[in-house]
Amino acid sequence: MKELKIQPIKNGTVIDHITAGNAVKVLRILGIPKSSTSIVSVAINVKSKYGKKDIVKVENRELDPHEVDKIALISPKATINIIRDYEVAEKHRVKIPDEIIGIVNCSNPTCVSNSKEPVKSRFIVLNKDPIQIKCYYCEREPDEEDIAERII
Ligand code: CTP
Ligand code: ZN
Repeated sequence: MKELKIQPIKNGTVIDHITAGNAVKVLRILGIPKSSTSIVSVAINVKSKYGKKDIVKVENRELDPHEVDKIALISPKATINIIRDYEVAEKHRVKIPDEIIGIVNCSNPTCVSNSKEPVKSRFIVLNKDPIQIKCYYCEREPDEEDIAERII
């Protein structure tokens, strides 16, 4: 018998194929629970075709593109499924752009992007999966944990 882990939802967004263990980071990006009143269900370390994954289901809400860009940085294989009347109406793979501007703070305190100058943070993407990025200004290469902690 197929086990039912979490219920299907009627309307909203299912973020699927989240890197196992990163569901809480997705919640943080979405401002849950503080700035959200949606019903949210979370599954962590679910077995899937490709090993383990996390899933976040947010009812009656769609994500804005900035949120999707941030989720890509911590879960390059994530899919965003828009559910309408129990059906998957749209399915999108998240995409990491070639440059990441204004989304992640540089961890180098002396970097010009952290100075009083009005310079937005900017990273060159060296590799998308696993994520590897380099600061355009100071060349610092934050690791995955650093990136996750410094998403604005
Ligand atoms: N889902 C849901 N509620 C629905 C419909 C789907 O919570 N009413 C969830 C499914 O449980 C799954 C995700 O949305 O986690 C995507 O659904 P679907 O495309 O049907 O699943 P798969 O074909 O397995 O998707 P993929 O190929 O992307 O793994
Ligand atoms: Zn820098």
